[in-house]
Amino acid sequence: MPLPEGFLEELKQRSDITEIASEYVNLKRRGRNMVGLCPFHGEKTPSFNIYTENGSFYCFGCGAGGDVITFIMKAENLDYIDAVKYLAQRVGMNMPEDSYDDSMSQLRKRIYEANREAARFYFKTLCSPEGAEGLAYLRGRALSDKTIRRFGLGFADSNRHSLCNHLRSLGFKNTELVSANLAYQNNNSVSDRFNNRVMFPIIDLRGNVIAFGGRIMTDEKPKYLNTSDTPVFKKSSNLFSLNNAKDSGEKSLILCEGYMDVIAVNQAGFANAVATLGTALTPEQALLMKRYADEVIICYDSDEAGQKATARAITLLRNAGVLVRVITIPEGKDPDEFLRNRGNAGHDAFKNVIEGSGNDVDYRIAKLKKNYNLEQAEGRVGYLNEVVKILASLDNSIERDIYISKISKEMNVTPDALRQQISKISRHDIYERRKNEFREIQRNLNGRDDKVNTDRFSKPRVTTAEEALISYLIKNPDKLGFIMSQVDENKFQSEFNRKLFLYFRERIKNGYEPLSQVSADFTQEETAKIFKLANSHTTRFATDNTVREYINVLNDEYIKLKTKDIENASMDDINEQLRRLRNSHS
Ligand code: UTP
Ligand code: MN
Repeated sequence: MPLPEGFLEELKQRSDITEIASEYVNLKRRGRNMVGLCPFHGEKTPSFNIYTENGSFYCFGCGAGGDVITFIMKAENLDYIDAVKYLAQRVGMNMPEDSYDDSMSQLRKRIYEANREAARFYFKTLCSPEGAEGLAYLRGRALSDKTIRRFGLGFADSNRHSLCNHLRSLGFKNTELVSANLAYQNNNSVSDRFNNRVMFPIIDLRGNVIAFGGRIMTDEKPKYLNTSDTPVFKKSSNLFSLNNAKDSGEKSLILCEGYMDVIAVNQAGFANAVATLGTALTPEQALLMKRYADEVIICYDSDEAGQKATARAITLLRNAGVLVRVITIPEGKDPDEFLRNRGNAGHDAFKNVIEGSGNDVDYRIAKLKKNYNLEQAEGRVGYLNEVVKILASLDNSIERDIYISKISKEMNVTPDALRQQISKISRHDIYERRKNEFREIQRNLNGRDDKVNTDRFSKPRVTTAEEALISYLIKNPDKLGFIMSQVDENKFQSEFNRKLFLYFRERIKNGYEPLSQVSADFTQEETAKIFKLANSHTTRFATDNTVREYINVLNDEYIKLKTKDIENASMDDINEQLRRLRNSHS
């Protein structure tokens, strides 16, 4: 059951999209709209638009779009009903009772509860005789009891049913435990997912336990077992310990590779450490970090895999718009190993490492240097050519100048020589980058990879006219009568647009605002597409005459379509087509 129209309209009226989006994006006024750097993808020139007129947004760079509810769904990672609840709470409105399908939301609530109880249970086990082995393991890894409590670490014992039994005794159903990925279905019974592991709860920014990582205490594989994606957990968009880091009061985040590193760094007095959850850093996580920090200090292992991951993270973080520094832990250790035998001296030692760390440019230059023999002219030329490429990629001219003067002294070349080379490359780079941005926006605008309307490719002309007509209808609901007198749904050749036409026709007939239920009735991709249409320029100043043009295209293409089929048409079909042909020319 959908939410009542009146409720949604009031909610949207009271939830100003500009004000809400401003909490995530720096917005500037441009004409009637607001623009900014898109919070949903990394970009350097703003293509994220807010349309205050109808309370919607659209990004020309990545194609995200929708109303204020869609915005919250994406920004806070919520589904539709939870985003509505979030907004309602924000403006102090009560949710209408029993008028919407709450089952997914209810399931999620149960999963949060089950996870919380599981974390409690694992912690209690750790402190009991059954958990002695786990506690000894964690202490053996130099974790204090205070740290163990702070992170709520726990222990899953070797009995394959203890967690399930416990949670069932609290009233949880097997299906809920399986949905939470705390248990798995095993023939006719369910078994605990985690056994004989020390447990690391993963907590989101609202304080919910959303998942677990579990480490085996031997050399067996897999070393860590993690919760798979569930209705409350997506590993690619969460970070371990961001809940602690957010409250650390620091403007920077320390990005580590693993759970143990984060915990050890925390124990040494740096609460701003986070880690990805068993996967390489994603663009989503980079944007998430940008929300809580101006600077990210990458602190990955110094092995080859770690260095590869560092290079990748630098690019993603730079693209997300944060400053980047890179720590190289001495002696090829990970942060946890570095801190382990240092006890109270760990804090200062680690602080020194952070302070001695360079930014990503230093890091890249230093790495480069290792590949060249600077004793020989050839090596020096090769090295400088590569350095110049790095410097050309810097947007900040002060930063660039500092490196120019440093390198020119170090390598004994004139700053001018470097500068000339840099401007050659950067002109080219900027040109290429602009071209790429242009292509991306163009692709998005003309729907080249249109996944929502799959008929576009084979029927570009009619699809475009259909969209223009729908866009016009959304903006001019009073013209429904006129449009209906000229075309019916059969003239729409792309299935998606036909669906939209029927949808908006129905809403307008019933006197509803055309767009207010779109985010509830369509998928996120479809919603984005619809708001793109609703905000398109082409129909802003459309007159009745331009609309007639769209309608002509629809009628015209319809006749073409039918004429093509005439070879195999039945007598009735032919008669019908003849009638139409005559009508359209009279
Ligand atoms: P590492 O292998 O570097 O382990 O994996 P670690 O963090 O140093 O752990 P300890 O010190 O040996 O206990 C880094 C991260 O990769 C993920 C985990 O998130 C881990 O913290 N990982 C690793 C897995 O998800 N599964 C694995 O089997 C191994
Ligand atoms: Mn480690």
